[in-house]
Amino acid sequence: MINVAILGYGTVGSGVFEVLNENKESISRRAGQELHVKYVLDLRDFPGQPVEKVLVHDYEQIVSDPEVDIVVEVMGGVEPAYTFVKKALLAGKNVCTSNKALVAKHGRELMDIAKEKSINFLFEASCGGGIPIIRVINSSLTGDEIDEVTGILNGTTNYMLYKMSTEGCEFDTVLKEAQQKGYAEADPTADVEGYDACRKIAILSSLAYERYFDFEDIYTEGITKITPEDMEYAAKLGRTIKLLGTSRRLADGTCYAMVAPFMLGQNSPLYSVNDVFNAVFVHGNMLGDAMFYGSGAGKLPTASAVVGDIVDAAKHLHVNIVTNWNSTPAVLKPLDEVTGRFFVRIKKEAAEEAKKVFGDVEIISLGQLPQECAFITDEMTQGAFEEKLAQIGDQVLAKIRVKD
Ligand code: HSE
Repeated sequence: MINVAILGYGTVGSGVFEVLNENKESISRRAGQELHVKYVLDLRDFPGQPVEKVLVHDYEQIVSDPEVDIVVEVMGGVEPAYTFVKKALLAGKNVCTSNKALVAKHGRELMDIAKEKSINFLFEASCGGGIPIIRVINSSLTGDEIDEVTGILNGTTNYMLYKMSTEGCEFDTVLKEAQQKGYAEADPTADVEGYDACRKIAILSSLAYERYFDFEDIYTEGITKITPEDMEYAAKLGRTIKLLGTSRRLADGTCYAMVAPFMLGQNSPLYSVNDVFNAVFVHGNMLGDAMFYGSGAGKLPTASAVVGDIVDAAKHLHVNIVTNWNSTPAVLKPLDEVTGRFFVRIKKEAAEEAKKVFGDVEIISLGQLPQECAFITDEMTQGAFEEKLAQIGDQVLAKIRVKD
């Protein structure tokens, strides 16, 4: 029998408890041994609930118990998660976590400890909710050189943008809905400002390119500036707006990564990824294009990914599973030198000036917005774009990156 301790009985923790109980027989069969939840750690009490029997309030009880083989950290946030996880690893216990903030900030150190101790620090649920993308990059795509990872990596914002575009809902109303459905972070600023997606693209890029991406170096822009007017233009152009985390490895060996809203064309495989779903598009030099799709947030999808890790840890209790992780920092290309196309909204009277500055761009107008117009630029570096944009100055109302 393998004993498991779950740290945190919130949305994901209660989901892990539920999945382990609901599918106990098949999970134990697949793990090769019975998996038993010996402890659940939470500050709260849950009187009358089944978890009550295994509930503890003191972490020392878990970390000092030699019978605990696997610690599942689903508390979220960096502290006390980091302290607890480090102690567990140092005590020789495998750790599975859904905590992207923890992995993005301390993953290097925690993975090194796991390697040294011949145990595992697994974090499948930290990216893409229920989509098993980390295992895919670490195991299935090892025959490839990956040169692009682009994903819808945050369920909350994808849900919000979808509702805003299809139902014209207000930002605050849809955010509340996403919170009620258990998608959002404790502090939803992490979702809407793109910080959550930033941590996820940092983790995925580090694995995909075998170079360490520090999330603090990644340009990050959220969805708080996206308006119903932007959505109307997107609809007119047959496009949609999605928050993407994207990174590439370039031919010169440098990389770039960013998180930002993009106006996507219908040919993009990410165009139809709606609601709380996430998808990760990967391009490999042998594989070509592939996309992995599934529920990006929520109790049971996330718990499903965590339990996948628990089973993997159970099968490799004293063997460190080799991953692509490499602590050498990625060399990041300045974003100014990265090329792209841009959608720009301007005041109506600036249309001629815009054509002079940006070339013969097609001016788009919407009947319901008579005071303004918009255009999409040709491909250019971001530096060149910003220089040109400065020439139109205060005539600019909004700008969004474009991806086909
Ligand atoms: N708040 C996150 C999201 C949860 O909405 O995607 C899953 O990481």
